[in-house]
Amino acid sequence: MQQIESQNHTISQTTHAQRKIEFSPHQQKHLDSLIARYTERTKTSKQLAQKYRPVFANNRGSVGFNLLLKEMFYPILTQRSLGSRMWDVDDNEYIDLTGGYGIHLCGYNPPFIKKAISEQLEYGIQSGPQAALAGEVAELISELTGMERVTFCSVGTEAMMLALRIARAATNRNKIALFSGSYHGIFDGTLVKAETIDGNPKGVPEYPGVTQNVAEDVLVLEYGSPQSLEIIKSYEQELAAVLVEPVQQHRLGFQPKAFIQQLRELTKALGIPLIFDEMNTGFRIHPGGAQVWFGVEADIATYGKIVGGGMPLAAVAGKAVYMDRIDGGMWNYGDMSSPDVPITWSGTSYCRHSLSLAAARALLQYLKVQGATLQEQLNQRTLQFIERMNAYFEVEELPIKLSNFGSFFNVNLSENSLLLKEPTFLIGLQLIFKHMIYRGVLMPKSDGFLSQAHTEQDIDFIVQAVKDSVNELRVGGFLNT
Ligand SMILES: Cc1ncc(COP(=O)(O)O)c(C=O)c1O
Repeated sequence: MQQIESQNHTISQTTHAQRKIEFSPHQQKHLDSLIARYTERTKTSKQLAQKYRPVFANNRGSVGFNLLLKEMFYPILTQRSLGSRMWDVDDNEYIDLTGGYGIHLCGYNPPFIKKAISEQLEYGIQSGPQAALAGEVAELISELTGMERVTFCSVGTEAMMLALRIARAATNRNKIALFSGSYHGIFDGTLVKAETIDGNPKGVPEYPGVTQNVAEDVLVLEYGSPQSLEIIKSYEQELAAVLVEPVQQHRLGFQPKAFIQQLRELTKALGIPLIFDEMNTGFRIHPGGAQVWFGVEADIATYGKIVGGGMPLAAVAGKAVYMDRIDGGMWNYGDMSSPDVPITWSGTSYCRHSLSLAAARALLQYLKVQGATLQEQLNQRTLQFIERMNAYFEVEELPIKLSNFGSFFNVNLSENSLLLKEPTFLIGLQLIFKHMIYRGVLMPKSDGFLSQAHTEQDIDFIVQAVKDSVNELRVGGFLNT
């Protein structure tokens, strides 16, 4: 399976191929009409993108760039949001499927979070070690996830950095094994890909600016492959951790439960800490995240997105033997105990921000009261939605398939379809997203999230928007099978 938008991340790679595509006059007419309507409807987003491009370095202005669709290539700039809805700078209303990259499990601005932030604001904004709410929020995370100890970070990337550091500190080893296709944020130490050099697999920088020295410490293995377990065994003495994104965000349909369980057994037997990146899965698939879902207990887990209730917050949680590297471990007053475990360095200026902690407390208390029913219902609704879409695509003989893990879904293409060899067909697939935005459904690329705030009517609207988009594209000469 591949995703619809271009996987190429550089402008030159995409434009070279695109220059060769020629549309029929009928297709060109459709495209011109769509561009005119789309850019008229979202004109302020376009104007602002151009106005600030000289000063605002924004990768939304290049990643996924397509020369042929260039006139519609700008982010829809949003101004306000509520529930399942978002309004852009031209005051167009959308049903939103972006979910802030998966942050807003309960929709935008739920009253209980708004109240918590407003109340906290009255007490002023504090950050740093004195944050009174931190202990209570740590306790709630521990209760919901079953992890023993918890510490805070501002964003997911920072949590990944810290999780790897404490694993290295605790094991006194350097190498990390992770899996190709996983994403763990923008830390150099995880932006490494596998390449075969002189017949040997080797970790190399995934992006310019990441050094080979950093990549040397990373083994990039194939996810779900028994051979990866053998490689882990052979690096037993060198591995500080195995890092896993339990369900990889670009192929949500691949949920290798047996492999995950074998990986847990193996790493336990070898004494290698297993780190679960629960950034997308935590609090989404189940209150206890992917660990409960797959029936495994990781040594360390990282959380972000949902946990902050919409505010920037992330957490590293895990067994005391690892988490004690943060603070030296447990001690009491009135006796001779002391923080004896050698610590590594952690903590940033914003990692215990009072507004984030207030939002997190409100969210976690809400999740606790709702219990797993919240996730079960939302996951079920998402599954029904993608099944409905897939049935439609099948009837229409379109090589599109949606997959989901909980309320997170993505749109993939069936790789063996000959239609995908046809460049104008691929353009037609990309145009579905533009048509949908034009019709009031915000999903600029091929992954999306349903939230608790999405109603059955919202879902009907989305389904109808897809159908209308496909029909109009077909009338315009695209997507014909
Ligand atoms: C699985 C996973 N890990 C880590 C991160 C990094 O989190 P952040 O963007 O908050 O730095 C992300 C972000 O999308 C993610 O999806």
